[in-house]
Amino acid sequence: MSFSGRGKVWMNGALVEWADAKIHVASHVIHYGSGVFEGIRCYDTPRGAACMRITPHMKRLCDSGKIYRMPLPYAAAQLETAALDTIRANTFKACYVRPIMYRGYGALGVNPVSCPVDVAILVWEWGAYLGADALEKGVDVCISSWSRMAPNTFPSQAKSSANYANAQLIRMEAEVNGYDEGLALDVFGYVSEGSGENVFVVRHGVLYTPPLGGSILPGITRDSVMTIARDLGYQVEEELIPREMLYIADELFFVGTAVEITPVRSVDRIVIGDGRRGPVTEAIQRRFLQIINGEAADTHRWLTFVYSEETAAAGASPAAANAR
Ligand SMILES: Cc1ncc(COP(=O)(O)O)c(C=O)c1O
Repeated sequence: MSFSGRGKVWMNGALVEWADAKIHVASHVIHYGSGVFEGIRCYDTPRGAACMRITPHMKRLCDSGKIYRMPLPYAAAQLETAALDTIRANTFKACYVRPIMYRGYGALGVNPVSCPVDVAILVWEWGAYLGADALEKGVDVCISSWSRMAPNTFPSQAKSSANYANAQLIRMEAEVNGYDEGLALDVFGYVSEGSGENVFVVRHGVLYTPPLGGSILPGITRDSVMTIARDLGYQVEEELIPREMLYIADELFFVGTAVEITPVRSVDRIVIGDGRRGPVTEAIQRRFLQIINGEAADTHRWLTFVYSEETAAAGASPAAANAR
């Protein structure tokens, strides 16, 4: 993925040119990782461009800021409006949306409170995160030698830039060793998550995913997948998953805004199930895509339409839609 270098970026309430969206090198965030951010996808649906679950994403952004004692310069609803404005200003139909709230330029020292809290929203076109074939054929994964951060060290419920130092180590190690992605354990040895995605195990028709206490980010896609799975009649359990349960899973898949629903075909070179996308993964993936493609009713009101005529056609206002 590379940037086009064109378009508009939202910075502290104003739309500026991409090339002018700059911060000072003395900004606190650069030195101390004092940023929190989100990743949201906007899909080109048959009814027009629509953001997937933008409301809970903006809520999580504000929650992340609260954990880091940031005085929030904008309410979640204002950030939602700003994100939609930014997509419109760039006339995108499908894109990835990256709001980031960070400690800016003021003073340097570990304590960030004398620095302003700034907010920017970037949008760009971004295709399949783990490659075009991944959604169908699956990916090869290793257990990382790096663990996720221990509870009461870096809060995993906050989507903070600092957490992605750990994620980078996991991802780089996996790729250097010839894998598509790394899957990390928590410090107690239980399955946690990938460098940028949550994980589900399917065994004997039941779905298992690690609990919030397992050093995971509480993924919005994780929540969508649990909802879809239950809608389809599957039992879903949030429970501790020992490493070896991955190897004997019938199916395994990653979920996240970037990876969407991506099957895992091997872990540490041990083939999972038949080594390709399994039926449960496919059923959940299909329903997820049907909602995005407008082929299934958006019963949970997950889509927020970006352009006003499409919002009107969908019979909902951006504020009213996507309540969850
Ligand atoms: C570490 C990590 N876990 C899980 C996820 C999935 O979260 P979501 O579904 O909200 O994108 C992400 C993606 O943001 C992530 O970076």
